[in-house]
Amino acid sequence: MCGIVGYIGNREAYPVILNGLKRLEYRGYDSAGIALYDGSDIQLCKTQGKVSDLEAKVEKSITSKGSLGIGHTRWATHGVPNDVNSHPHYSNSGDLVIIHNGIIENYGSIKKELINRGYTFTSDTDTEVLVNLIEEIKKQEDVKLGKAVQIALNQVVGAYAIALFDRNKPDEIVVAKLGSPLAIGIGEDEFFVASDASPFIEFTNNAIYLKDEEMAIIRRGREVKVRNIKGDKLVAPYIQELQLNLEQIEKGGYDHFMLKEINEQPSVIKDTYRGRLLADQGIIKLGGLEDYISKFTNADRIIIVACGTSWHAGLVAEYIFEDLVRIPVEVEYASEFRYRNPIITEKDVVIAISQSGETADTLAAIKLAKEKGAFVYGICNVVGSTISRETHSGTYTHAGPEIGVASTKAFTTQITVLTMIALRLAKVKGTVSQSDYMLHLRELEMIPSKVEKALQEEDNIIQIAEIFKAAKNFLYLGRGYNFPVALEGALKLKEISYIHAEGYPAAEMKHGPIALIDEQMPVVVIAINSNHYEKVVSNIQEIKSRKGKIIAVVTEGDTVVKEMADYIMEVPATPEALTPLVTTIPLQLLSYHIAVMLGRDVDQPRNLAKSVTVE
Ligand code: AGP
Ligand code: GLU
Repeated sequence: MCGIVGYIGNREAYPVILNGLKRLEYRGYDSAGIALYDGSDIQLCKTQGKVSDLEAKVEKSITSKGSLGIGHTRWATHGVPNDVNSHPHYSNSGDLVIIHNGIIENYGSIKKELINRGYTFTSDTDTEVLVNLIEEIKKQEDVKLGKAVQIALNQVVGAYAIALFDRNKPDEIVVAKLGSPLAIGIGEDEFFVASDASPFIEFTNNAIYLKDEEMAIIRRGREVKVRNIKGDKLVAPYIQELQLNLEQIEKGGYDHFMLKEINEQPSVIKDTYRGRLLADQGIIKLGGLEDYISKFTNADRIIIVACGTSWHAGLVAEYIFEDLVRIPVEVEYASEFRYRNPIITEKDVVIAISQSGETADTLAAIKLAKEKGAFVYGICNVVGSTISRETHSGTYTHAGPEIGVASTKAFTTQITVLTMIALRLAKVKGTVSQSDYMLHLRELEMIPSKVEKALQEEDNIIQIAEIFKAAKNFLYLGRGYNFPVALEGALKLKEISYIHAEGYPAAEMKHGPIALIDEQMPVVVIAINSNHYEKVVSNIQEIKSRKGKIIAVVTEGDTVVKEMADYIMEVPATPEALTPLVTTIPLQLLSYHIAVMLGRDVDQPRNLAKSVTVE
């Protein structure tokens, strides 16, 4: 599920691949490996741990200047993270070398069959089974490597992005994709392979994004032949011009990508609404939406499917849509939705939200919704991603590459898009008054400067982080629009600091979690000016009476909560529907600084992957 990189051309492959693996580190992984081939000798090196561990090991053991190579970062699914299970994997003959992201679900039965035929296995991975299946087919059917890969992939069930080469074919790499992403960079007389374009962005702006069930044979100095795995047809590949630049994927002076991305929010929120929101003229125009407005306004309900932070953005949208557009909304974990035999009809609109556009569960939910005849709208950040292609229409968030595993700017830009959609639909449906509509447009335009202001609380937040960094548990409470923000704040803290945290609707506290409150328990309460202000104030009193420590997010100028809370983090005032865009900011900073103080790996927290392309 994590990262693959490959190179074939005229330059030395090792630096290209190593640098590429470093670029893909953000995806999260537990081991790394590389295989280089100079036409006579294959040199392979792999290790549990970081790409820097691999680099150190390579320096001791590898001498190859080969100009063909493949590299991998592994996020273990089959077999513990250790040196042996790391990729690349050889076939039994030692001729084939493979890297693989994803899962081969029926590896067990294939492995049994191969063992019966005399194959042996050194690792516990499903990947080693696949490379030997390819070898066996190549031998039995006496076919070329490409054909053997195709036959093998027709026998496996699961998800994959693979790259492999054959000792007997020093000028060829074969790649294939189903479920996991795979891009081929097209240079002059050289080709690059990677899970996304970041590893080869300084070499070429042209890339082919393989579609599911496509494979490609890449020949040095020649061409890329793409074909469908199921049929035998050659496919004319679409060469896309990339819009990414190097600066976007570097840290730009920040210690971590996460901090860079938190600080980018004022500008990327602007990028999200640029050209789409013309507040003075009262216009919202979203290209992907205009032709499908009636699908939404005639819908019986909207179902939002997503995972993790994107699911939290969906929960915020539930409030906005029901409030402003008066359409019933259901927000579903994509992973549950797909297995629940859900009731979906042609009168439903499904909105899928995904930063990466590659999340396997969300993708499967989309496929299911499409099969049942629903109209599916995508909100993605990564341009050209699988979800953006699989949906009927959609809107990009334009947040730029999000590298930190913990999602920050993706969340606020998703909410920005969802708010624009809701306002546009409310206007068409007539469910919002003209004055409210105009107010929200103008206020949305002011969000970047308000986020900027919220970011200025950082020094205060650092002090709060210092005080609570040793806490073992945290509670996050919010109501209405800010209940999902409480969930998101808790998720951020869990992900990067490994401190246990839970988010709750503030009023639910008395139905259980209140039992956890004692003087050791920090409770982060979003207590901004809103319809629920008085109620939240009462909830704070309940916590105080039980000696809990209150860290409150309050509206600038607040005096009441300020008196009661132990610590406060201020955010500028904005209409209630827009508050999640500002209240999220201090919670992102709090989790970031606690994690840094605890010495955590902020950008690549343990066990996590940036895009979860397996179930
Ligand atoms: C958030 O910080 C996460 N790392 C994770 O929950 C993420 O939001 C989730 O995996 C969904 O990813 P997507 O938006 O790329 O689909
Ligand atoms: N399933 C393979 C393994 O466990 C690949 C995991 C990955 O995607 O990195 O080795």
